[in-house]
Amino acid sequence: MKDLIRQLIQHAFDHLVSDGVLPEGLTPAIQVENTKDKTHGDFASNIAMMLAKPAAMKPRELAEKLIAALPQDAQISKVEIAGPGFLNFYQDTSALAARLDSALADAQLGVRKAGAAQRVVVDLSSPNLAKEMHVGHLRSTIIGDGVARVLEFLGDTVIRQNHVGDWGTQFGMLLAYLQEQSVDAQAELHDLEVFYRAAKKRFDESPEFADRARELVVQLQAGEPECLRLWQRFNDISLSHCQQVYDRLGVKLSMADVKGESAYNDDLAQVISDLQAKGLLTESDGAQCVFMDEFKNAEGNPLPVIVQKAGGGYLYATTDLAAMRYRSQVLHADRVLYFVDQRQALHFQMAFEVARRAGFVPASMQLEHMGFGTMNGADGRPFKTRDGGTVKLIDLLDEAEERAYTLVKGKNPELDDAELRQIARAVGIGAVKYADLSKHRTSDYSFNFELMLSFEGNTAPYLLYAYTRVASVFAKAGLAMTAPLDGQIQLVAEQEIALAARLAQFAETLNNVAEKGVPHLLCAYLYDLAGLFSSFYEHCPILAAADQATQQSRLRLAALTGRTLQQGLALLGLHTLERM
Ligand code: ARG
Repeated sequence: MKDLIRQLIQHAFDHLVSDGVLPEGLTPAIQVENTKDKTHGDFASNIAMMLAKPAAMKPRELAEKLIAALPQDAQISKVEIAGPGFLNFYQDTSALAARLDSALADAQLGVRKAGAAQRVVVDLSSPNLAKEMHVGHLRSTIIGDGVARVLEFLGDTVIRQNHVGDWGTQFGMLLAYLQEQSVDAQAELHDLEVFYRAAKKRFDESPEFADRARELVVQLQAGEPECLRLWQRFNDISLSHCQQVYDRLGVKLSMADVKGESAYNDDLAQVISDLQAKGLLTESDGAQCVFMDEFKNAEGNPLPVIVQKAGGGYLYATTDLAAMRYRSQVLHADRVLYFVDQRQALHFQMAFEVARRAGFVPASMQLEHMGFGTMNGADGRPFKTRDGGTVKLIDLLDEAEERAYTLVKGKNPELDDAELRQIARAVGIGAVKYADLSKHRTSDYSFNFELMLSFEGNTAPYLLYAYTRVASVFAKAGLAMTAPLDGQIQLVAEQEIALAARLAQFAETLNNVAEKGVPHLLCAYLYDLAGLFSSFYEHCPILAAADQATQQSRLRLAALTGRTLQQGLALLGLHTLERM
C-alpha cells in the first residue's frame, strides 16, 4: 500500500511540475507512514509540508493541488487534508478484503519480493574453532539464519557461508600443548574447552612455550604434514560440536556451508601481489599496508589496513579480501551480508573499500555489514557463569528447555510427558531465539530467562500460544487451517478492519526485513498481529456468528492470521504447536 501511495503521489507531483505549479529539478523523498489514529485514515504523507517552501506555497494550498492531481485508485476510498497539511489516505475496505482473499488462495500468502531476485551470500555464525562455541556466536547464528530464511522466502538464492576461524594462532598453542603433554589426541580432546584453557595457561605463563606455539603456527601454515593432521583433528571435533548446536537450535546450517579462513590460504599471496600491481600497497615498519584518505584515527593520523605482517604472515583482513573475491567471481553474488559483531564495523568498512579499489568486486555488488550488539547477562554485564567462565551454548539451551518444561507442566499437568517434552523444546529453544531476534540488531542485549519465557509481552511463548488459539478455532470446527473455505472476506466491524489492514502488510514487512537485515521488524509485526487477532476474537464471534456469510468471512480472516503467524514464526526459525 505504501508503495502504491508513493507512486500516486509521485504521479501527482510530476503532473504539477509539468503544469508549472511546481518548479523543475525537485526530487522529493516521498514518505508515507501508517497513521496511529484511524480517524485520520490509514496512511499519511507529509509531502506538502516538505515541498511548501521550494514551491513558495502554503502547505495546505499545495496539499489541495496534489489531491486534485492524484490519480483514482480502487484501493483508496478517499484522501483528506489534516492539520498543517498532511495528506491522509483511507484504504478502501472492499479492495482490502479482495486482496486478502487472494492472499489466502496463495501458498506465498501474497508475498512477493519488491525488487528483482538476487544471489545473496550470507556470512553467519563463523565461530573460531578449537574453542567451544559460546554465547557470543549465538546472535550471528540466529539473526543470520532468520534473515536468510526471509530472503529465500522472497525468492532470492541464498548461499550460506560459515567463515569459521580455523587458521589462527590458537592452533599453535594447542599443537605445542599436545606435544608437551604427549597426550593421545583421540582420547583427550573430547573436552576441547578444557584442553584449550590448559594450553592458554601455559602460553601465558611460559615464554618458551609461547615461542614454540608461534613456531608451530608457521609450520602449520607451511603445510607440515603432522601439524596439518592434528589441526584437522582439532577442527573435526570442534565443527561437530558446532553442528550439534546448529541442529539443536534448528538453524539451517550444515558442514557444506563451512568455508573457513584456511580455505583461502592459497589465495593470499595472490591478493598481496594484486594489491601491489594496483599500486595500493605501502610498506610501513616492514608490514604491507593499504592507506585510504577517508580512514583516520582520532588524532587524524592515517589508519592502515595491514594485509601482511613484517614476518610475512597474513591477517584477518587479507583473508576477507580473498573471500570477497571468491564470493564475487566464484559464487557470483549480487549481495553479501556479514552478520558479525558491531565491534568489527571499521574492519568491514575498510576491507570493503580496499576490495572495491582493487577491483576484487564490481561496483554493483552490495557488501553490507549487518553488525549486532553485545549479548550481556540479565544484569547487563558481560555474560559469564557464576565462577566467571564463559557460558557454553549447550548448557544454556538445556536450561531453557528445562525451565520451559516446568512452566508448561505447571499450566497443563494433564498432558503426557512425551508431549510436554516436545512442547518444552519448541518453547524453550524458541524463547532463546525469539528473544534475540526481537531486539533491534544493533543494540546490546541482555539475556534473561524470566523475560524470554514469559507468556506476556513480545515473547515466543506469547506468540506460540496466540497461534494455538487460532488453531483451536479450526480444531473445534473440524477443519484444517489450510482447507479451502467458501465465501469471501467482508470487513464490517472495526476489529475486522484493523486485523485485515495489518494482515495486508505482511509482504511489506518481509521486504523491509530483507532490505535492512532486521528480523525484529517481523517480530514486532507478528506481536501486533496476535494482539489484533485477540481483540477480533473477543468482539467478533467466529463459529457462533449470526449468519453463514459472516462465519465464512471470519473463518477466512482467522485462517489467514493463523497461516501468517505460522509462516512468520517459521521464517524466524520457530516451530508452532497445535496446542500447549
Ligand atoms: N571468526 C570471526 C570472529 O569470531 C568472525 C568472522 C566473520 N566473517 C568474516 N568474513 N570476517 O570474530
